[in-house]
Amino acid sequence: MTLDIIILAAGQGTRMRSALPKVLHPLAGRPLLEHVLDTASALGAATVHVVHGHGGEQVRERLQGHAVQWVEQAEQLGTGHAVAQALPAIPDAHRVLVLYGDVPLISEAALRRLCAAAGDDALALLTARLDDPTGYGRILRDAEGRVLGIVEQKDATPEQRAIREINTGFLAVRAGLLKGWLAALDNSNAQGEYYLTDVVAMAEDQGVPVEAVATECIEEILGVNDRGQLATLERHYQRRQAERLMREGVTLLDPARFDLRGTLYAGQDVSIDVNAVFEGRVVLGDRVRIGPNCVLRDVEIGDDVVVQANCVLEDAVIGRASRIGPFARIRPETRLAEQVHIGNFVEVKKSEIGPGSKVNHLSYIGDSQIGARVNVGAGTITCNYDGANKHRTVIEDDAFIGSDSQLVAPVTVGAGATIGAGTTLTRDAPPGELTLSRAPQKTRSGWKRPEKKK
Ligand code: UD1
Ligand code: CA
Repeated sequence: MTLDIIILAAGQGTRMRSALPKVLHPLAGRPLLEHVLDTASALGAATVHVVHGHGGEQVRERLQGHAVQWVEQAEQLGTGHAVAQALPAIPDAHRVLVLYGDVPLISEAALRRLCAAAGDDALALLTARLDDPTGYGRILRDAEGRVLGIVEQKDATPEQRAIREINTGFLAVRAGLLKGWLAALDNSNAQGEYYLTDVVAMAEDQGVPVEAVATECIEEILGVNDRGQLATLERHYQRRQAERLMREGVTLLDPARFDLRGTLYAGQDVSIDVNAVFEGRVVLGDRVRIGPNCVLRDVEIGDDVVVQANCVLEDAVIGRASRIGPFARIRPETRLAEQVHIGNFVEVKKSEIGPGSKVNHLSYIGDSQIGARVNVGAGTITCNYDGANKHRTVIEDDAFIGSDSQLVAPVTVGAGATIGAGTTLTRDAPPGELTLSRAPQKTRSGWKRPEKKK
């Protein structure tokens, strides 16, 4: 049966106390709604309808890459009213599955079970059993266990409130049936809303089978209404990712202090210390070790690389057996060959560094091309920016740059050249020679330090 998915996302999200629409708040670095859209597309929906309201423009703009039928619900008159806005565009014979933009962790597996239970002509509900069901709609059953209806918390009697089987909100049913029921909804209830949940009693009245499908995983049905709930779901999501990586053979020194906001491909025997944050697409080769407090975004790291504590790496390729850090910053468009050493307080930007080269202390390397086996001394700066344009520095193989030198680009240091410590290099240094710029050293004998006046 052709599947149409309706995602409800019109809620204001008042309790987030945010200028950002609730469904755009990130979970693992991506908007809540995007997680739901991914699940929808995994289910192979023919069309995904997103019902939006407040902040609709922003939501549409942020998710414009997704194939979505946007439906506006100008006034939020209830979940039944929200679903009704999308229904006219859906043929009667299609199956409708209702999802929620603020319930990001719903699993594909549970939804497949729900669709299977709906079959051709049943109404399927996803339910759960909660120790504390406060706030949820309760499932009403008869003595034989048949589902009779759903009563909302605010409309429930004390006896009904004691029921611990709740409505998660997820449901699947053929569009034709849903259209008939929604047309007959009224809002004579405690909240004055058109409740989607009232269709259950209508189905029961008409002899349409109602199938309750239970889920054991509570996190998958939890919605986000405030930042505390968002943090709870974030931790749950991260924990699941950490467990998966450990199953795949990655060592995480503390799975509770690991954050992946994107995708991580790890080789064999990779070890990741505490407080590592991975963003975008990160590839780690075999035996890579990541020290504590590192941030890696869109990087590719070769086998046997060690990234020591407190490094930030972004959009870079790090060659085999290189050593980075501690306290190093690797900025976009950096390409390091194998066995490169980048030490503490070194920043590298848009540069290529050849095999075996070392930049070990307190340096800035920007817009540079560095050859093989080059040694860059402590405190070396490539002066790549003249205030208007960026210029390139080229350092050829086997060159040695003395400490505290400034290389004023554009400039080239020839192969095997030596630059004396403290040099300000403004012209090319020829290969194989010593080049230095240094003020002559003077000593004034008998000079006295000034003394403080009494
Ligand atoms: C709803 C269910 C309740 C269930 C609970 C699970 C109804 C009447 N009740 O209650 O049985 O236990 O979810 O979380 O359906 N929305 C719109 N437009 C509207 C109203 C709501 O888009 O006019 C969206 C909201 O953004 C939200 C979702 O629908 O994502 C649920 O709405 P909400 O008002 O939070 O329903 P609950 O009272 O939680
Ligand atoms: Ca809710």
